[in-house]
Amino acid sequence: MSCINVALLGFGTVGKGVYQSINSHQSRLEQVLGKRVRVVGILVKDLEKHKQSKKDGLVLTDSFEDILAISDLHVVVDAIVGCEPGNVYLKKAIEKGCHVVTANKEMFAHHGEELLALAKENGVTIGFEATVGGGIPVIQTIKQLLQVNRIKKVEAILNGTSNFILTSMRKEGHSFDATLKLAQQNGYAESDPSNDIEGHDAFFKGLVLSQLIYGKTPENHTTSRRGIRSITADFIERASELGLRFRHIVTLYKENGQIHCQAEPALVSSEHPFYQVEGVQNGVSIDTDLVGNIQLNGPGAGMFPTASAIIEDIIQINRPVPAAPSFVEFQEEAEESSKWVLFSDKVDIKLPYVSKVLARRTDKTLVVETDNIEEILTENPLVTCFSLKGGYLHTPEKVTI
Ligand SMILES: NC(=O)c1ccc[n+]([C@@H]2O[C@H](COP(=O)([O-])OP(=O)(O)OC[C@H]3O[C@@H](n4cnc5c(N)ncnc54)[C@H](OP(=O)(O)O)[C@@H]3O)[C@@H](O)[C@H]2O)c1
Repeated sequence: MSCINVALLGFGTVGKGVYQSINSHQSRLEQVLGKRVRVVGILVKDLEKHKQSKKDGLVLTDSFEDILAISDLHVVVDAIVGCEPGNVYLKKAIEKGCHVVTANKEMFAHHGEELLALAKENGVTIGFEATVGGGIPVIQTIKQLLQVNRIKKVEAILNGTSNFILTSMRKEGHSFDATLKLAQQNGYAESDPSNDIEGHDAFFKGLVLSQLIYGKTPENHTTSRRGIRSITADFIERASELGLRFRHIVTLYKENGQIHCQAEPALVSSEHPFYQVEGVQNGVSIDTDLVGNIQLNGPGAGMFPTASAIIEDIIQINRPVPAAPSFVEFQEEAEESSKWVLFSDKVDIKLPYVSKVLARRTDKTLVVETDNIEEILTENPLVTCFSLKGGYLHTPEKVTI
């Protein structure tokens, strides 16, 4: 029986997950593909650390040239960290005629467009399911939808660490710093957590989705990125009293021909699908013109969920379905959120012009509906505001204390 030969770049959480899953699911892969899948090469940074993984017939190396020299190499899996050297390695692999699969969202957010073009030129495929939402089949679902639907808007919780921290702060009533420490102790946050809590990781995933849906990433001036570091226990308590929960949400849509990508903390009511997405889970909500709203929830990271996404890509590459037509442009204007939650510490909030107050906890905590939030913020420079997603059925009378 012939084989699909795979090289893994990186042998950390994701690389090991792929290696173990290919071995544990070998007979299933044979049934599905009619071929064995074999890991024939592994690239690492520190060879000494991995010497116990050395095996006959396996090229274990710290030099990418050794990987490129493997004859009959079919698929290169990128499971290393950061833009470089992953980008250069994948270019070389594509030029050699290998298909590639990547889990590296930072690299793909920055270089996806050129890599996809290069792959097309060389007649090979790039799988990137694992870059967004870990084990949740977000990319395949969107590709499938794009065959006939137009995607109007995507909202998504794409960083499990941030969602874990926001959920724990609300449930336990602890400060941001104490909860971050707990997340680090439980392995949900890195020792340097800035990529997650400053919103970079979620933003990169938003860029990957933009590339998929619109065929390109947005201009800098139509993007925004804010992490969860500024969310205090007090904000969380006040939001809870209004029946709201904090989430870190990526919003992607097109308006007046421009792609917008925002990654920032927002509030959701119990009517919003993300209200129940708790802990390290991820959630994706896709608004389309024909099928309507589709929601996907599940594990957004981890060894085996991510391995599952990578192996699904290896299967798709070797058993391709007909490609979707070129990217569908959606020109209709997406509806912009006009509901906001305003928090003030010391002074009462002044509403400068006709804004509808949906709920008033005190004059320092308001839920308003407005089409000019900038004017309110100019009038109240010390106010912190968060977008409120989804419906909000509270009446001012119900909530006013
Ligand atoms: N962890 C997840 O749940 C998850 C989920 C989705 C996507 N991802 C993405 O998947 C990628 C890998 O994540 P991970 O969690 O597996 O990271 P990890 O545990 O830190 O492993 C990284 C691996 O890459 C190797 N490496 C790093 N720099 C290298 C270089 N310059 N040349 C060769 N090898 C190099 C390391 O080698 P040594 O072992 O020798 O140090 C290590 O084996 C990242 O891009 C991440 O964003 C991760």
